[in-house]
Amino acid sequence: MSKKIDDERSIVDRDPANTSSSVLQDRRTILKAGAVLVSGATLDLSGNPAYAESSAKSDSAAKLPPQPGDRIQIAKGELKNQFIKTDSLEVNAIGVEAFPYDPKTEVLRRKNRLNRLVVLRLDPEEMDEATREKSADGLVAYSAMCTHRNCTIQSWKQEERRLRCHCHLSEFAALSEGSVMSGPARKQLPMVPIGTDDEGYIVALDGFTRKPGGAKK
Ligand code: FES
Repeated sequence: MSKKIDDERSIVDRDPANTSSSVLQDRRTILKAGAVLVSGATLDLSGNPAYAESSAKSDSAAKLPPQPGDRIQIAKGELKNQFIKTDSLEVNAIGVEAFPYDPKTEVLRRKNRLNRLVVLRLDPEEMDEATREKSADGLVAYSAMCTHRNCTIQSWKQEERRLRCHCHLSEFAALSEGSVMSGPARKQLPMVPIGTDDEGYIVALDGFTRKPGGAKK
C-alpha cells in the first residue's frame, strides 16, 4: 500500500451506534411530524396553534448559520451526537463531520446544508497566526462545503495537513485558514472561530468568516 494512500483518509461514519442522544433525535423527528407518542397511543398535534408556532421557530432555528454560543455536535462515527470538547479529537488525525447546535433552544442547525462543518485538532505551533486566533486548544472548525461546487469535503491528507475534495481534487490548507493549495476552487474554506465554554465544550464565537459553499453543481 502506498504511503500516499495511507496518508489520505476518508471522513466516514465509523460506528452508527444508537446512543441516548440519538433516541432524543428520534423523538424530535416524531415531534416534527406533528405527533407525540403517549403511552403507546399517537396524539395528533398538527392542528394545535402553540405547537405549530414552536415547530416553526425550531425549524427556522435549524436553518440559521452558526451563532455565537453554539456548541458543535458530531454528526457521524463512533462519537456521533457528542458535543466536541478539547480532548475529543487526536492531534493531526482525520477530522469529524459536525453541525452547530444551539444549547438554549436545543436545536441542531442541520436543516441548512451549508452548516456542515469539519472539525480537526492540529498543533497550534504549526498554524499561522490568523488560523490560531480562530482555534481553541488546537481545534479548528471549517466549512465542509467545497468552495468550488459544493461537494462535501471528505478526505484528509495528514502529512500535508490538507483537506481534500474528491469531486475535482481541490485541496485546502488546514493550517492556513483553508487557503486553496491546488485544484479548481478559487476561494478558501470559511472557518467558524471557536472558543470553549465553562464546561469545556467548544463553542462558536462568531458565524462563518465568509460565505460558505461554491457555485451550484
Ligand atoms: S466541488 Fe470540490 S473540487 Fe469541485
